[in-house]
This record gives sequence, C-alpha cells and structure tokens, in this order.
Amino acid sequence: MARISAKKLFIFCVCISAFIFLIITFQVVEELGQVERTVHRLPLKEREELTQIQVFEDINLPLKEKIPGGVGDQYPLIVWWSPITGESGRLGECGNNRCFFTINKSYYSHPSAQAFLFYGTDFSIENLPLPRKRHHEWALFHEESPKNNYKLFHEPVITLFNHTATFSRNSHLPLTTQYLESLHILTTHTYLLPLAQKNVLRQTLAPIVYVQSDCDPPSDRDVYVQELMRYVQVDSYGQCLHNKDLPSHLRDSTSMEEQDFYHLLAQYKFILAFENAICDDYITEKLWRPLKLGVVPVYYGAPNVHLWLPSNRSVIVVDPNEKPENLAQYLKRLDKNDWEYLTYLEWKHKREIPNQRLIAALQERQWGVQDITQDNFIDVFECMVCNRIWENKNRKKQGLPTKIWQADVNHLRCPAPRMFDFAAGQLSRTSLRGIWRPSFEQSRREARALRLLIQRNRNFTVNEYWKEVFRD
Ligand SMILES: *[C@@H]1O[C@H](CO)[C@@H](O)[C@H](O)[C@H]1NC(C)=O
Ligand SMILES: *[C@@H]1O[C@H](CO)[C@@H](O)[C@H](O)[C@H]1NC(C)=O
Ligand SMILES: *[C@@H]1O[C@H](CO)[C@@H](O)[C@H](O)[C@H]1NC(C)=O
Ligand SMILES: *[C@@H]1O[C@H](CO)[C@@H](O)[C@H](O)[C@H]1NC(C)=O
Repeated sequence: MARISAKKLFIFCVCISAFIFLIITFQVVEELGQVERTVHRLPLKEREELTQIQVFEDINLPLKEKIPGGVGDQYPLIVWWSPITGESGRLGECGNNRCFFTINKSYYSHPSAQAFLFYGTDFSIENLPLPRKRHHEWALFHEESPKNNYKLFHEPVITLFNHTATFSRNSHLPLTTQYLESLHILTTHTYLLPLAQKNVLRQTLAPIVYVQSDCDPPSDRDVYVQELMRYVQVDSYGQCLHNKDLPSHLRDSTSMEEQDFYHLLAQYKFILAFENAICDDYITEKLWRPLKLGVVPVYYGAPNVHLWLPSNRSVIVVDPNEKPENLAQYLKRLDKNDWEYLTYLEWKHKREIPNQRLIAALQERQWGVQDITQDNFIDVFECMVCNRIWENKNRKKQGLPTKIWQADVNHLRCPAPRMFDFAAGQLSRTSLRGIWRPSFEQSRREARALRLLIQRNRNFTVNEYWKEVFRD
C-alpha cells in the first residue's frame, strides 16, 4: 500500500513540476514574443473575393489553369507569404494596372508568380519561397516595433528584398507617420486644459504622468523613469513602476483609446512618452497623443525625432547621456514657471505647425489612418509592387532596359539596444532587461546564416539553419 502511494506521490510530483516548468516556459516565451502589435486599425477595405478560384479543384491540372479566366497569363501573380490579408485570391486594381493577389502559397510554382510579400513580424526562416527564380521579387512590409524580429535589421537580410515599406523615411513606402491621423488632430483644442486649471489639479496630481504596461523593453525606459522618479513626482498608472490606480472603468487595456482616458491624461503638464525601441523614424502614438491632448511630451525614442515635431519647441527630448536628475530639475522648473511652460504650447494655442516636412509627409502620403475614405497602407504597398512589375513589363515590351529595385541597409536600420550607462551594472532587477543586447548580437549571426542559405537557393530545414548560425 505504502509503496503504491509513494509511487503515486512521485508521479504526482513529477507532473506538478513538469506543469510548473511548462507554465514558466510559456511565460518567458510570451514575454519575449510580447509584441506591441499595431492592431490593424482599419478593417482592410471591403474587397471583392474571386470565389471562382476555389472552384477549380482538379489537382492534376497545371496550376496555371486554375486561375479564373487565365488571370495568370494576363496579370502578374503576387503572393503574400504571411496570411495577413486573409484573401485567397483577388484581382486588384492599381490605377490602370491589375495584379492577382493571394495568400495561397501553392501559387509559388505558377509561372506568373512574380512577387512574394512578407510581413516583418511574421517573417520566418521556415518554408521560404525557395528556390528564388530570377524573376521573383521579394517585398517586405514591416511597420511594427523594431524589437520584433531583429534579423531583418542587418544588411545580409534587408538587402534580400526588392521593395520595402517600413517605418524608416528611407524605405520605398515610408510609414513614419502611421500613428498620426491628421494635422488637424495636432492643432485641435478638444482636450486642452487651461494652465490655471492644471495648476489647481497639481494639488492632487503629479506634474508628470507615465502609463506603460510593456515593462523593460529594449529602450530600457523603465530604468530611466525609475531614476527620474527619485527626483520628481510621477503618477504611474500602468503595470510598469505602478504607483497609482486608474479609475476602475479604465482598467481594461482596451479602454486606452477612450475619451475618459484622454481627459485623465490631459490634466497633466507632462507625459513621459518613451518608445519601446530606439531607431531613427520609429515614432508611435506615444509622441502624437500628448501633442493631441495639449500636454507636453517628454520624449525618448527616435534620435532624429526633431525632423517630425510640429515645431521645435513642442517636445522635451530626452538626452540619454544626461542624468535623469537634470531632466527632473528642468521639469520642476517648468512646473513652477508658467510663462516658460507655455512656450512649449505656443504652437498649440496658435494652431501653428511650422514644420514643413511634417506637413508635406501628411499631404503626400497616399494612405489614411483610421479613415475609411482613404486606402490603407497595405493596399498602397500591394499596388506599389504591382505597378513596379507592370512598369518593367512595359519597358521590356518597348525594348528598354528594366529597372532594378533593391532595399538598402538604411531601409530598416537600428542601433544595437543599449542600457542606460548609469544603470548598466544593475542587472538583477529583472531578467528581461539584459536580454535585448545579446539577442540583437545573435541576430547578426542569424542574418549571416540566413543569407548564406538563401544564396544556396534551395529550401533548408530549421536544423540546417541553426547549425549555420552556430558554426565556429
Ligand atoms: C490554393 O490553391 C490551390 C490551387 O489553386 C487549391 O487547390 C487550394 O485549394 C488552395 N488552397 C486554399 C486554402 O485556398
Ligand atoms: C526652429 O526651427 C527653425 C526652422 O527649422 C529654425 O530656423 C529655428 O532657428 C529653430 N529655432 C530654434 C530655437 O531652434
Ligand atoms: C530583386 O532582387 C534580386 C536580389 O537582389 C535581384 O537579383 C533582382 O534583379 C531584383 N529584381 C528587380 C526587378 O529589381
Ligand atoms: C524541399 O522541397 C522539396 C520539394 O518541395 C520537398 O520534397 C523537401 O522535403 C523540401 N526539403 C526541405 C528540407 O524542406
């Protein structure tokens, strides 16, 4: 009896430990993979599905025959290698040009398959469209945080692509302003509180607010903010450095865009707007939201953010080489000095945006943000590739040399993640903080290995890949 119970107990313990181990593993994986996804803010524009495509069932027919009405003979086939659009087949119109777009990977072997579109965060080394034929164009769409999928950021990988749409202003379709709906949203006074009212609110509120629940990302922002909080009062409502609770109706993370949340933030003088990763042109709603609300952003993120600010006195840009204590002193001074504080809001009060680059970027972009009257950037990306393919088809017909497109390393470039010097040694705080730099360094090896395997131009297994990564 006793033996059986001991055995049962043993099995029970093993099961429990395995279970705990699994839970922990999942948590780590989840943390690592925690992706600040851009929820696709627009439902992809209503599109007409070519339902006939599913009617051609006969596997024995050559693939070419299965496209309705010989579409493949007339129109270039463009295959999404990530199921991002969910479209099994659509004949898309791009101005006067038409292309057939699909997420169905079996069109890889169709002779008219001309381009493969990749979605950055999903870009996986498994099952790439190899061998890559001479006429296969590759295109990369990567608008999300640079912390997702580091290997794309190195020359051996980014230069594999012919066409790009990224947050970088240098890409073929720059998405730098993807979080900014319009210029009007910046100049609006909808949420702006008079300074006198903010000064009254200071009796119960800190001058500065921070709301962040993705803690310890590659930018190392939480370490900076924690240090800052030693010298100046900050109300922190998110999970990171939490010291104040949101009213209960705002606690659900889906309420982040709610009016009440905006009104709560608008009561403050400053918002800490710290990006999760530091790259030129990587700018999110963290910057635009305070500007919209009439609160001064204290911004840490894109080192070239000055190119994109409404005016050069609208944002306090954090210098990572300065001590947080100095920033705290400056913010305290502005808190006490109304006149000086208001110089940061002058553009807002006058509704003036002197930055011509920002104005031009918004006027020239062919896509909208939360605007159903305009195309979304996925449509525009698809059409850019389609139109370029047609341009070369036409040039060929006229006996002209075809154009070559190739991504350059500056289409997606980020420096290695860096911890703040003043806290570089303090690694014990969490394990996640120390992970970014080594993971970025490893991604260099991964990029090199991937390039090598792709150049061999035949499919490869995950094992072959890792063997190549860790060679010598
Ligand atoms: C993909 O296309 C092939 C060939 O046209 C077809 O047989 C298959 O059913 C399609 N798969 C899906 C998921 O639509
Ligand atoms: C602000 O920007 C304008 C135009 O870019 C420049 O001429 C001006 O000197 C700048 N002002 C300050 C205070 O930097
Ligand atoms: C696409 O990129 C590949 C690889 O760099 C290159 O060989 C090919 O010529 C490019 N195609 C076009 C149309 O630019
Ligand atoms: C490569 O592709 C061939 C043909 O599609 C397939 O049979 C083979 O299993 C693939 N090999 C690898 C390593 O994926």
